[in-house]
Formats: sequence, structure tokens, C-alpha cells
Amino acid sequence: MARTIAVSGSASGIGEALAGMLRDAGDTVIGIDLRDADVRADLSVPEGRASAVAQTLERCGGRLDAVVACAGVSDFTVMPVKVNFFGAVELLDGLRPALAAAGAPRAAVVGSISGTHPVDDDVVRACLAGDEPAALAAAEKAERGGAGGLLYPSSKAALAQWMRRVCVTPGWAGAGIPLNAIAPGVVRTPMTAPLFADEAMVQVMNEAVPMPLNGHAGPEVIAEALRWLISPANTHMTGQVVYVDGGAEATLRGAGLF
Ligand SMILES: NC(=O)c1ccc[n+]([C@@H]2O[C@H](COP(=O)([O-])OP(=O)(O)OC[C@H]3O[C@@H](n4cnc5c(N)ncnc54)[C@H](O)[C@@H]3O)[C@@H](O)[C@H]2O)c1
Repeated sequence: MARTIAVSGSASGIGEALAGMLRDAGDTVIGIDLRDADVRADLSVPEGRASAVAQTLERCGGRLDAVVACAGVSDFTVMPVKVNFFGAVELLDGLRPALAAAGAPRAAVVGSISGTHPVDDDVVRACLAGDEPAALAAAEKAERGGAGGLLYPSSKAALAQWMRRVCVTPGWAGAGIPLNAIAPGVVRTPMTAPLFADEAMVQVMNEAVPMPLNGHAGPEVIAEALRWLISPANTHMTGQVVYVDGGAEATLRGAGLF
């Protein structure tokens, strides 16, 4: 049965691949992005997030079968905190009532293997407290202090922890909405194109994210996993961070987690 699915970050990379797959299968996709999207909005700021929610609700008539928060940025500034954490959380929170109105609703976020890397604890704590001014103040401090590289991992670690906290609450599990994350390793998209253009960076990337199984992935690999998470077939998986990373997480964290 055709479903109506909102996908943020639909103009590029993983979000674009997912939107294309869903549309090819007959679903109605409401793409949300800065440009080239059904809903054009800036998820880095509160008013842009509110506009994204309002426009999406208007387009779907208050009933959504699935939401995938995929939009993201990976620079060493405060932007990952704004877009990857608060942009995703406020989009999901705002669209949750429309999911609850559907028969078999599903939601997913896109985390990252980087969420297992070192983080700025103050940023993560403030994100989880829902305190954006405090999170941005801590992020600015990290950026000024030359620790901007911690901000992308911090945004993704906070997103995964937020997801695990809320997924079992009445608003999500209680409303019949599975909420999970896919955490990719390194994916060939416009986000990583500048890294692949630099041989030294490829070396650094391969050490930070070793992918012994089939190497770097294409965006369709991640899209396929997201597609299952938000499919009606997923009735009982929630709160999981599924690493689609060519074995990076298993290599880095080993067997000791279980
Ligand atoms: N490419 C990778 O190796 C990789 C690895 C792990 C996780 N991820 C995550 O996957 C997701 C998709 O990344 P991608 O590789 O497809 O990147 P991409 O750059 O190809 O696509 C990201 C999309 O997000 C949109 N976006 C960025 N800021 C926005 C904003 N303020 N408001 C609205 N939309 C905004 C962009 O316009 C773009 O269309 C991101 O969350 C990223 O962090 C990517």
C-alpha cells in the first residue's frame, strides 16, 4: 500500500537515494531540504524547523506513515549541533502527532560511526537537556579552543542517546511508533567528496573508520537499510543503532560490548 513519508536531506546523498527508492516503489515522499525539495526550510534554526513542520503537516494533511531525519552537516563548527541534533529532534517531535495518526507509523534518524568517537561532554549533556543555547555556547567554546572536530561526533552521539531515551516512552512506543537509527561508516556522497579528493585524508579516514567488509558504501546501501527500518515489516525493533559500516564499529569496539 502506498505510504506518505517525510525525508529530510532529500536533495543530496543518502536522503536523495532514499527518496528516489520510495518514490520508485509508489510512495509519496515529502522531501525537506534547504533547496530542491517539496518543503524548503533551514533546519539549523528554530524558525526554520517550525516552518518545516508546518509545511510538512499541511502537505500530508496531518497524517504521516514515516519520517526519516537524514539532513546533516559535518564541518568543525557549531552547525552539526544545530542541524544534526536540534534539527532532527525538533523535526521528529513536531511530526510525531502526524505519525501517531497513521496505522503503522515508523521513524528513523541517521546517526554515524562518529557517534562512537570522542565527544565534548558539555555539548552532549546540554543537547540531551534540550538546552540549545547552552549546547551552542559549549560548542562555540570547543570551536574556539581548537576542538571543533569533536562537534560532529557529539551531535551524533547525542542524537543516538536521545533516540534511545524517547523510543520507549508513551509518545513513541506507546503510540506504536518504532524509532531507530542507522549509523553509517564512510559513504560516498557530496558530504565526503572533498575527503576522497585528498589522498592523505583518505588515509586518515581509513584509520578512523576501518571498513573491512566491502569498503566504502554508496548512498543506496544506507537508504536500503533505512527503507527496512521504516517499513511495515518492522513491528518490534526500536531504540537500535544499526551500524551499516563495513565492520567499522565491530573493529573499533570489539567483542567486549556483549
Ligand atoms: N556520507 C557519510 O560518509 C556519512 C557517514 C555517516 C553519517 N552520515 C550522515 O548521513 C546524513 C546524510 O549525509 P550525506 O552524506 O547524504 O550528505 P549530503 O551532504 O550529500 O546531504 C545532506 C543533505 O542535508 C541537507 N541539509 C544540510 N543542512 C541543512 C539544513 N540546515 N536544513 C535543511 N537541510 C539541510 C543538505 O542540503 C543536503 O541535501 C547526514 O546526517 C550525515 O551526517 C553520512
